[in-house]
Amino acid sequence: MKTNDQLEPTVFVIFGGSGDLTWRKLVPALFDLSQDRSMPAHFSVIAVGRADLSDDKLRRRLHGGVKKFSRQGMLKTGEWIKFAKNISYQKGDYNKLQTYTVLAEQCAKLEKEWGAKVHRIFYMATPPIMFGVIPKFLGQAGLARDRQWAQIVVEKPIGHDLKSARALNAILSANFEESQIFRIDHYLGKETVQNILAFRFANPLFEPIWNRRYVDYVTMTVAEKVGVEQRGGYYDQAGALRDMVQNHLLQLLCLVAMEPMVSFNADEIRNKRVDVLHAVRPIPRGAVQKYAVRGQYGRGTLHAKKVCGYRQENDVSSHSKTETFAALKLFVDNWRWQGVPFYLRTGKRLPRQFSEVVIQFRSVPHQSFPAESSREWHPARLVLSIQPEEGIVMGFQAKYPGPKMLLRPVEMRFTYKDSFAVPSPEAYETLLGDVMDNDPTLFIRADQVEAAWQLLMPVLDVWAGSNPGNFPNYAAGSWGPRAADELLAREGHAWSPIA
Ligand code: BG6
Repeated sequence: MKTNDQLEPTVFVIFGGSGDLTWRKLVPALFDLSQDRSMPAHFSVIAVGRADLSDDKLRRRLHGGVKKFSRQGMLKTGEWIKFAKNISYQKGDYNKLQTYTVLAEQCAKLEKEWGAKVHRIFYMATPPIMFGVIPKFLGQAGLARDRQWAQIVVEKPIGHDLKSARALNAILSANFEESQIFRIDHYLGKETVQNILAFRFANPLFEPIWNRRYVDYVTMTVAEKVGVEQRGGYYDQAGALRDMVQNHLLQLLCLVAMEPMVSFNADEIRNKRVDVLHAVRPIPRGAVQKYAVRGQYGRGTLHAKKVCGYRQENDVSSHSKTETFAALKLFVDNWRWQGVPFYLRTGKRLPRQFSEVVIQFRSVPHQSFPAESSREWHPARLVLSIQPEEGIVMGFQAKYPGPKMLLRPVEMRFTYKDSFAVPSPEAYETLLGDVMDNDPTLFIRADQVEAAWQLLMPVLDVWAGSNPGNFPNYAAGSWGPRAADELLAREGHAWSPIA
């Protein structure tokens, strides 16, 4: 990442500037970047929103977010005051050209003041309904014209299905070149997710066994303890498949299954990632229930506290058939992975909050130890822990001390906490830094978004067109519907034993 003296003067325009994402993620990340000398010497954050707010009121509100969410905000009030001088508020209607012409004037004014050309970053942190509107007006106001100096950042959800994603991509590409469009999936900004590439391709040790000959199956879990919190309105229209699988889990799949990149070039890496999605065997519409499981939480107990069911959450229909849990079994049809199942699952209101990938290796081809020595036998496995643990655990067999040859599973553990003295940056810090650096490696290209939707459409369509019947089918605080375990058990497989 470039340091402040190497970065061009930048205007950061945030549409949705008075909203939750700006408060919780974007400004705390920008503040942390500034403390690490990774913001340009000249920068301005223009928060655009529909609320009536003064600059001071907005800054006070944002300071609350920085104290709560940034790594360094709590202790650095003096630094915040300096930083906040660069933040201003502009009330504006996203549907009026005037909002954008005022922005163009402000950029021109700053260019004059700083005596340098200004890099413009437009961040859409608005409700998704605005994603198709803002790029058109930016185009009309001439703010997208300068290909090298203007970029647009798009938050998820990028579309609601394949058709709407294509329509949105068409609007974006009518006004911006693909190289100017940064589609965010914050999972790609996580250190441990980026480490999947480092682990696989910076060490010659594992790549030779990273294939169908040695890997029996792979599980990927993103488990959440939280329910839908204040987002019932959005979530009830989305569901777990759209909210988590279409983006975060499929990104994990791409990184675990992709072929080695030839160089660390953004398009080379993105090509390799999208190749995985193209190789995933399509799920037949007539057999969705063989490959996909959906669930919805009912009332239950989580850490000795009673919690309500999904249908009792705010802004959720009392008859909702939206899934809060989804599990999929996928196959990647290529030479490396033919026949190896990849099981993906995610759910809300599960007993523990964690994300991990487990590579389950095959058993030894011939068991030469006597039966009594290997009663606790587990084939070797590798756990890539994304969060909250950040690290890698290798599980293998070792001889138990004593006169007899008894084997027990043991673990070899690497953690970020113990190995590196520096804290991991938040995903948004990394991603915003990359936008300023104009590095699209960790962002999603249009073709990848569409390939991900294409893959899920049979499941989305079949689920939308049929009543789940048994919802709610798991209690809050449990590990999801039984059918999710059966999906693996049929093949003699299981989700990670840690769970
Ligand atoms: C978001 C989803 O994209 O990711 C949320 O919309 C989810 O529903 C969140 O809670 C999980 O992100 P993380 O980084 O907390 O695992």
